[in-house]
Order: sequence, then C-alpha cells, then structure tokens
Amino acid sequence: MFAKEGLEGVVAARTSICLIRGEDGTLAYRGYSIDELARSASFEEVVYLLWFGELPTAKQLASFDAELRANRSPPPDVLDALSGPLARMHSMDWLRTAVSMLAADDPDVDDNSEAANLRKGLRITAAMPALVAAHERIRKQAEPPQADNGLNHAQNFLWMMTGHRPRDPAARAIELAMILQADHGLNASTFAARVTAGTLADMHAAIVAALGALKGPLHGGASGQVIEMLQEVGDASDAARYVERALAQKRKIAGFGHRVYKAADPRAPHLKAIAGPLAEATGSERLYQTACAVEDAMRARRGLSPNIDFYSALVDQMVGLPTDQFASAFACARIAGWVAHVIEQHLDNRLIRPLEEYIGPLPRPFVPIADRS
Ligand code: COA
Repeated sequence: MFAKEGLEGVVAARTSICLIRGEDGTLAYRGYSIDELARSASFEEVVYLLWFGELPTAKQLASFDAELRANRSPPPDVLDALSGPLARMHSMDWLRTAVSMLAADDPDVDDNSEAANLRKGLRITAAMPALVAAHERIRKQAEPPQADNGLNHAQNFLWMMTGHRPRDPAARAIELAMILQADHGLNASTFAARVTAGTLADMHAAIVAALGALKGPLHGGASGQVIEMLQEVGDASDAARYVERALAQKRKIAGFGHRVYKAADPRAPHLKAIAGPLAEATGSERLYQTACAVEDAMRARRGLSPNIDFYSALVDQMVGLPTDQFASAFACARIAGWVAHVIEQHLDNRLIRPLEEYIGPLPRPFVPIADRS
C-alpha cells in the first residue's frame, strides 16, 4: 500500500537520540527537555549528550572540549584546492565539497566502528565552523581565519565569521541556535545520512549526503529566505497585507509550518526570546518588529506558527552572518545529530530500501527505431 506523499506518518528507524512529540510540541534529546538544555547547557555538552547518551561530568566535558579545540583547523590543502574560481560556488556546495575532501586525510575513513565514527565525527564537527568561515574569507579574497582556542565552539565560529570577538547577547544567541538545531529526529538531512550509512558507506559519505539534503529551501535553505521575505515586507505595518497577498497567491512563507509539529515548534520561542535583546543590542528593532508582525499575521490568517528557521534566521542576521551562509551555520549545529544517527545506524544496520508503487506504462513490446513514428 502506498504511504502518504513525502513518507508522512511512516516510521523508518528506531532511535534513542531525540524524542519529538509533534502533537504536544515538545522535544527532548536523550530524554532531556530542550527547554532545560536551552536554559542551562553549552553546545559542547549537548554534542556529548547526543553522541554518548549521557550528560558529561566536568572532567569528561573538559577533555571532550579540549579534543574539539585541538581539531578546529582544517587541512590547508583542502582550503587551497577550494580557493580561486571554485570559491564562487554556492556556500552549501562549497561546504559539501570541502567535507568530502576531509576524507582524504582522515586515517579512519574506512573504519565504521563506533570508536572510529566518534573520532571522525569529532574531527568533522570541530573543523566545520573553520571551513564555513574560510569560504567566507576566501570569496572576499582574504586569508582564511585562525581559530581562537580561548573561545568556545559557538563563539569561535562567530569570531572566525565576523572577525569580532563576540559578546553577549550575540555569543549566547548563536550558541542557543546551535543547541536547538543540533538534532531533530528523522528530518530530511538526517534521513539522507542514515540511508547513506545504511549501505555501510562511511561517516564522510553520510555527512556529505546530509549536506546535500540540507541545502534545499524546504529544509536548511528556508532560513536565508526568511530574511529576504522580511526585507520584502519592509515594515511591521505592512505585514498583515503582505501575508494576506502571499496566501491568496498560494505562496508559502519561509519559516512557517512543519511536517511533525501540529502544535508550535518548541524551539522557536527560545530564539524569539533572545532575538528581542539582540535586536536592541544590534540596532535591528525594525527587523524584529516586522518578524513579530508576520508571526501574528500568519497565526491569525492561517493558524501556522513559526518553525525554528524563522527566528534562527533573525539571530543569524543580527549576529552578522551573510544570508547565504545561514544554511552552513545550521550545518555546523546539525552535524552533531548527523554523527549521532550515523553511529546509531552502523551499530544496528539494515539496508534502508523502501518499495515503490509503479505508475508507468504496463509491459509492452520493444519497437525498433525504424518503425517508430
Ligand atoms: N506558508 C503558507 N502555507 C503553508 C506553509 C507556509 N510556510 N507551510 C504549510 N502551509 C500550508 C500548505 O499550503 C498546506 O495547505 P493546504 O492543506 O491548504 O494545501 C498545508 O499548510 C500543509 O502544508 P504541506 O506543504 O503539505 O506540509 P509539509 O508537511 O509537506 O511541509 C514544510 C512542511 C516545512 C516543508 C512546509 O511547511 C514549508 O514549505 N514551509 C516553508 C519552508 C520552511 O520553513 N522550511 C523549514 C522547515 S523546519
């Protein structure tokens, strides 16, 4: 029997990583509510939790954090190879290619054991912010940035992207976005990673597949479009009219709706709460107020709440990331979940291969080319 379009309602994996209750609008990583993690955890703690299943002790966290810091610099030959004309690639294509090239130098590339997967996952996770920042600099004909090992993972990302040492609320806002984006069950990119890992392809192959899926505007690409939409709206006073017109034209508004959440996306309010003070700190009040007005209009006219991409786009914009790097910033967070899922898939693997329902022509005789009209 044919599943609903888009595999809606189909359970395609057993997992102990992330619990999403779409009807109640709740989310937990390894049993810990996202609300508590958003309030109290660091990104490094969340990555450890996703990969090892438990929150780290202070000692475990210190050693994990030191490993991450020690692996922040990507191999220079990868940056050299992707400099010059190749730097004009779409940011997600550039990142996907760079991550693919990391496999060349990785001593564990063909080893799918849990220990090797953890080592590879750590190396890719640690280096990804520097890759994104390197692309940003290279395309501006500047030298790739040096990591600052005095800063935590999220702060260092912002430092390398903007050239400014981040202060609160920007520093906490980007870390919060990364915590909230770290995993989300069988979303499209994680599913792509698991399907790839399910063939017993390696960690790098699975992450490259995930990056390909994340690029699309229905997934990670949505956040860049949120800012374009808000700029098109222009002002809070124009939001209701804009939403009305867009809905009448059957246009989708980026940053709203979700396949799983029937109640609100529980990640969005955390980012909205920090976006307010961040707007004040960065002089972005107009953008913030326009976003709030679009949210109100969408809820009133269509009953749809913002998803995480709506307010993560605001945060990314206000902390100074270029719009076309929002999806790459998302990747720097979601890599945590991808790695956890690849490990889980390899630990209990069966090839993922669904059936199709054939709707083409019935069997018919071959027609030689001379007889075709
Ligand atoms: N703007 C306007 N209407 C929307 C909408 C949006 N962003 N998202 C969903 N809808 C409407 C659809 O038009 C459809 O209405 P209909 O039943 O009258 O035809 C209904 O809600 C269901 O939408 P559908 O596209 O079938 O849901 P889906 O589960 O296939 O898709 C998304 C989920 C996330 C892809 C979809 O909501 C979307 O495209 N959102 C915008 C992109 C985005 O923000 N992506 C990031 C997701 S975290």
